Amino acid sequence: MSIIVSPSILTADFGHLADELQSISACDWIHIDVMDGVFVPNISIGFPIIKAVKDNTDKPLDVHLMIVDPDRYIDRCKDFGADIVTVHYEACRHLHRTVAAIKAAGMKAGVSINPHVPVSVLEEILPYVDLILIMSVNPGYGGQAFIETSVEKVRKLKKMITDGGYNVTIEIDGGVNERTGRLLVDAGADALVAGNYVVSAADRTAAIRSLQELR
Ligand code: DX5
Ligand code: ZN
Repeated sequence: MSIIVSPSILTADFGHLADELQSISACDWIHIDVMDGVFVPNISIGFPIIKAVKDNTDKPLDVHLMIVDPDRYIDRCKDFGADIVTVHYEACRHLHRTVAAIKAAGMKAGVSINPHVPVSVLEEILPYVDLILIMSVNPGYGGQAFIETSVEKVRKLKKMITDGGYNVTIEIDGGVNERTGRLLVDAGADALVAGNYVVSAADRTAAIRSLQELR
């Protein structure tokens, strides 16, 4: 199966959202970055935009919650059209409960870790999740430089998943381009979020394909 490409709409032109979504129609998922100004030093997209995206695409919505206590918003994510909801390990007091609530609401559950957090903390949650999102930049902004040690984290996580016999998608977010994508896929990544690399490309379809074809 080819690599799943999930373009981030964080830096999209929201005045022309339907056109923006049309321009990335070669993608597999749409990545939506929700920020609360508390967990991360930025505020971004909320439910009205999630709904507008849902109304203008038939792709699964890959919602990345960079917010504290995400449990409060799980049902609303479902109501507004999310298909996958990813929460941060660092933002959840009872992560197992949060993951269970996402699945009980009928969505796929993802857990993300920040660059300074080792993959070993995921050991006990792996049997329960559908996806792990490795942050390869500090969350908050698009267009940041890729943190190179993320590749080794992917390799370690891949081994944990294979050894445990789990069915978990490995997704990476931050600074993904053709070069870093190659390294990540070789280390075991299944899905790549791409903001700047796709949005700033003259040919967005070609940029998406170049990542899909890494496997
Ligand atoms: C960062 C967001 C990312 C970001 C990726 O906090 O989670 O999804 O938009 O953008 P690039 O690919 O430009 O690093
Ligand atoms: Zn993201």
